[in-house]
Amino acid sequence: MNIILLGPPGAGKGTQASLLVEGRAMVQLSTGDMLRAAVAAGTEIGLKAKAVMAAGELVSDEIVDGILSARLDEDDVARGFILDGYPRTAVQAASLDRLLEQKGLKLDHVIELEVDEDALVDRITGRFTCASCNTPYHDRYKRPQAEGVCDVCGSADFKRRADDNEQAVRTRMAEYRAKTAPILPHYEAQGIVRRVDGMAAVGEVSAAIAGILDG
Ligand code: AP5
Repeated sequence: MNIILLGPPGAGKGTQASLLVEGRAMVQLSTGDMLRAAVAAGTEIGLKAKAVMAAGELVSDEIVDGILSARLDEDDVARGFILDGYPRTAVQAASLDRLLEQKGLKLDHVIELEVDEDALVDRITGRFTCASCNTPYHDRYKRPQAEGVCDVCGSADFKRRADDNEQAVRTRMAEYRAKTAPILPHYEAQGIVRRVDGMAAVGEVSAAIAGILDG
């Protein structure tokens, strides 16, 4: 089963993709994670992407299509993949169609997480993760049990994404509305779009997604 998770920043794409990786051994293909890894490693792509990402704008189609194409060549995608954060433009959607055809793969579902954008600003600007083991936390909803110490690994180092400030979040949302939401009709024409209430609790969202995958 190969799916796309679609939704604005903070809709829960990464959260739901991680649960599908744990529960179904599917492979998460997050272009955001791939780009952040390139930025952290200081590669040529990372150097080009760093300031664009921090401002909340989209990285060029050429760069993103290139990294996604290379990732789709890896053997593990045969387990079934979850595209998280790709495609984000009409050019990327057309590119994905070509890549899948070339590689003999097909999409089963495009799952759109429907959300209230104002609530998402709060979700995103409050989040932080353990710098050692990546356990996610939130300023208001999920603080470490002992202040300043990771519940899972005991580290005292935490990090926040460079683009998780209100200004960048508003830009990311505007980019979503202008460039990503308009690709939905492309998939609606194929009859593969399914919608889920992304404002429900995490477990309810994953149950709804499971219902689609098993239905
Ligand atoms: P990317 O990494 O894809 O980020 P995003 O789309 O902005 O999405 P997020 O990761 O912020 O949110 P999410 O939907 O995954 O939500 P999450 O599960 O984390 O992209 C970052 C940047 O990289 C882009 O701006 C761009 O520059 C570049 N980029 C990436 N792909 C690109 C592409 N294809 N083309 C061009 N540029 C690209 O959840 C958010 C928070 O909410 C968490 O704290 C979580 O715990 C909480 N939460 C989740 N679900 C719930 C729930 N149901 N109830 C309550 N809280 C919840």
